[in-house]
Amino acid sequence: MLEEQSFKLQSRLRKSRRTDSLRRIFRETRIHPDNLMAPIFVIDRSDSVEPVQSMPGVDRYSVDRLPEYVSRLRSAGIRSVLLFGVPASKDEAGTGAYSNSGVIPRAVRQLRDNFEDLVIAADVCLCEYTSHGHCGVLATGEVDNDGTLPLLAKAALQYATAGADIVAPSAMMDGQVHAIREALDHSGLNSTIVMGYSAKYASAFYGPFRFAAESKPAFGDRRAYQMDVANSREAMREIEGDVKEGADVIMVKPALAYLDVISKARARFDMPLAAYNVSGEYSMIKAASMNGWLDEKFTVYEVLTSIKRAGADLIITYFAEQGAKWAREGW
Ligand code: PBG
Repeated sequence: MLEEQSFKLQSRLRKSRRTDSLRRIFRETRIHPDNLMAPIFVIDRSDSVEPVQSMPGVDRYSVDRLPEYVSRLRSAGIRSVLLFGVPASKDEAGTGAYSNSGVIPRAVRQLRDNFEDLVIAADVCLCEYTSHGHCGVLATGEVDNDGTLPLLAKAALQYATAGADIVAPSAMMDGQVHAIREALDHSGLNSTIVMGYSAKYASAFYGPFRFAAESKPAFGDRRAYQMDVANSREAMREIEGDVKEGADVIMVKPALAYLDVISKARARFDMPLAAYNVSGEYSMIKAASMNGWLDEKFTVYEVLTSIKRAGADLIITYFAEQGAKWAREGW
């Protein structure tokens, strides 16, 4: 009898859900603008803002038009951006990625001059710059891991020298974090942060990005270097590798189909953990909301919250500006 009563009292979990204020005081996870990083596509043109067809609501900016967009992000409360370059021309060796006059070094200098307190991260990869669209240089028709490392290091050095706070290698070459860390330290850039795309899966969710960044591989796919979708133990080995190589921030990408990997990484590594809420995750919500099939605001809330609840500290998301505004209003 007594036992039954105490069971009943304990089971009334609805008590804490009755009113909005009660729900708020018991809420375990919150999205804050500080935790949202905005990816930006930078095009090598002048005076251009171009909508990205595959990602409604996302635009690509020329270097001279970047400050106006970043001012908007700053007023929404966003403190950090992740830059992707779309060069005017490409070649076999991806030269545009590591040239001092390339689109990213220029974009970084432009933003550094205009925003003292902005955290500038730059993606380090060759796929937007190579004519074949792969993330490294080719040798006998395959992506040459060790031949790519010095080029990634050179790119990272250019971006850091231009003023980037964070360089983020996403090419999934073995040893890329080490190669970059070593190059930075040799040049006295020992306060530049390396954010490794540690567990980056060969995902269908990058589709809309590849239109935006014009980085679709001309032949084959990326499965020989990006991770197999089915593996999570291997993800822990990838992350451990990046930590040993000197990464300051680790990342799981994509986020939504990999919440288990985020959660496992959180439990295992006491490192700042980023999760990339990628283009396909953005576009599918956008498309469904535009059709009236999903409530965009609540869906974005639920998705970003789930990524944080899984254990991510930092969420890289195309919803950053809107998400920050909603977060400040209280959703
Ligand atoms: C470059 C890179 C990609 C993304 C981030 N860095 C594309 C890819 O690997 O094909 C995808 C980001 C997104 O889908 O939002 N290697």
